[in-house]
Amino acid sequence: MLDLIIRNARIVGQKEVLDIGCLDGQIAERAYNLDAPTREEIDAGGHLVSPPFVDSHFHMDSTLTYGQPRYNESGTLYEGISLWGEIKPGLTIEDVERRALLLCRWAIARGSLAIRSHVDIGDPALTAVHALLEVRKKVSPWLDLQLVAFPQDGYFRDPNAEALLAKALELGVDVVGGIPHFERTYDDGRRSVEALCRIAAERGLMVDMHCDESDDPGSHHIETLISMTAELGMQGRVTGSHLTSMHSMDNTLADKLLGLMRENDVNAIACPLINITLQGRKDTYPKRRGLTRIKEMMQRGINYSMAHDCVMDPWYAGGSHDMLEVAHMGLHVAQMTGTEETADVFNAITINPAQTLQLQGYGLEVGCNADMVVLQAKDPTEAIRLRAARLFVIRRGSVVSRTSPIVSEVSFMGEDALTSFSVSELH
Ligand code: FE2
Repeated sequence: MLDLIIRNARIVGQKEVLDIGCLDGQIAERAYNLDAPTREEIDAGGHLVSPPFVDSHFHMDSTLTYGQPRYNESGTLYEGISLWGEIKPGLTIEDVERRALLLCRWAIARGSLAIRSHVDIGDPALTAVHALLEVRKKVSPWLDLQLVAFPQDGYFRDPNAEALLAKALELGVDVVGGIPHFERTYDDGRRSVEALCRIAAERGLMVDMHCDESDDPGSHHIETLISMTAELGMQGRVTGSHLTSMHSMDNTLADKLLGLMRENDVNAIACPLINITLQGRKDTYPKRRGLTRIKEMMQRGINYSMAHDCVMDPWYAGGSHDMLEVAHMGLHVAQMTGTEETADVFNAITINPAQTLQLQGYGLEVGCNADMVVLQAKDPTEAIRLRAARLFVIRRGSVVSRTSPIVSEVSFMGEDALTSFSVSELH
């Protein structure tokens, strides 16, 4: 007896529709006209079925604080950092948990079942760390939450950060973070990358740093991050987030660094919604876009992802935790409009970040976790174009979210009757 059958599923990359059978939280069968008893059955109606979205870079401690205690009037990164500094001392475990759990609910409804969230370790009480460790436990049946120890005010610039980061890791935070471009000097930034990578290697943890989130073409801490990856044998376990300075670099240097990233399996994460609004702020015209070199990363086979970063917090007033909105923005800003490129952008919110987070059992093969999303679209390109409705979200073989198909009724050119109409080409 199966737990669930998803009928008429158009699995990403497959032309034909088939049925997916789930048992004990895993995908047990994939077959045409699957003939087996089951407790529950849903009809995907020939729509696209994808592994769930993965948000590889988020800030769950600051999310949904928009307007508290005041708005970011300039809309800049640095006013955002100082505004967060005003919010931090007043954080309570209850408030962080409440906002994080609400955000997780939004994410699940939009088909995201794994999130890597940075958590600021700069608060002497580690309030957000305690709260998010509790949230990680509470949401685990529905969503994989991975936490990064993030020294927001600088690992060396904040005199308490070294001890607090160590404490956060002892408490069970999963990944080591950093922010080398925010240290006092370039040399402090380099030393912070070295120190943090060594801590990760000693503890057997992954590394994910805010790295070179700057318009300064001279900011290339990614070079040290790569060299530490090689020295410590951490290939595949190290990630550079943002990497926006690469946008402004000389092509020769960028080319060398991209080659080294590939050679050492360093992952990249771009945050298109945030960096298109925060970068290039000191430019007059022309204004730089400030997004890292996504197209070149794809061409070189670097494992790159696109991530949300913020939803309604001191840095970004918008968002609803929708990874298709992230992909839509990334596709435009990075000019990923070639046929293969557009399809690859879908990988940047699914299989690529799953690799970065080293998620086990991710995918739609038999034996994988029965986690998936049914989208009101026929293929990944259409899903991004329409930011398609997430008709069903399935976690470990159970439907955890349902959304009605988007259908409008239109009266046109003098017709009396309303005609049902969907933007999806399937209808
Ligand atoms: Fe970030």
